[in-house]
Amino acid sequence: MSVSPEVEGSPITTAGLSTFIADVEAVVATESDPHRVAEGVRHFLAPLLAHPDFLAPEHREPDPEHYRVHLLAVAPSRRFSVTALVWLPGQVTPIHDHICWCVVGVVQGVEREQRFTLREDADGDRWLAPLDDVLVPPGSTAALVPPDENIHQVRNAGDALAISIHVYGDDLTTCMSSINQCFDDLSTRPGDLTGSPVAWRRAKV
Ligand SMILES: [Fe+2]
Repeated sequence: MSVSPEVEGSPITTAGLSTFIADVEAVVATESDPHRVAEGVRHFLAPLLAHPDFLAPEHREPDPEHYRVHLLAVAPSRRFSVTALVWLPGQVTPIHDHICWCVVGVVQGVEREQRFTLREDADGDRWLAPLDDVLVPPGSTAALVPPDENIHQVRNAGDALAISIHVYGDDLTTCMSSINQCFDDLSTRPGDLTGSPVAWRRAKV
């Protein structure tokens, strides 16, 4: 099974990032519905992407072995964390889901996100069927809120370095990874939407 890189680095908070964190703190303090929280985060993340000088040079550094996760900040409330993911061409995540809501914005490069549904037949066999396959260009944002369509895989789909900001609704200094579980051991059956959808947050795969 593939393993996600651990979150690493010392948080460095710049003025633009501080403003973003304060804005998101106001969102999480006033909204309890995670879908509305995620939409609020997207609203404030989009303008942050237009001014990428909030990223320190060390937070733009890739890893030749796998995509890299730099921790930028943990909110004072500890209710969310901000990371920068740095990808060399071809680097890819495992197929995974998250422990919490996640909002993504691309700073540079092009990422591709493939979402999946987990199905099961009458004999108990389980597989993944691909759903949306979306290119995410610079400046674009996307949100994932468990448990809806939250199984996905992300890759650098371009031929240059890619950097994206991922905001997670948890304190990553205590859990060290936003990934709930990986699904790479399951077979993938394109177009096979037979069987029943699995309540995968409780499923053993
Ligand atoms: Fe993810």
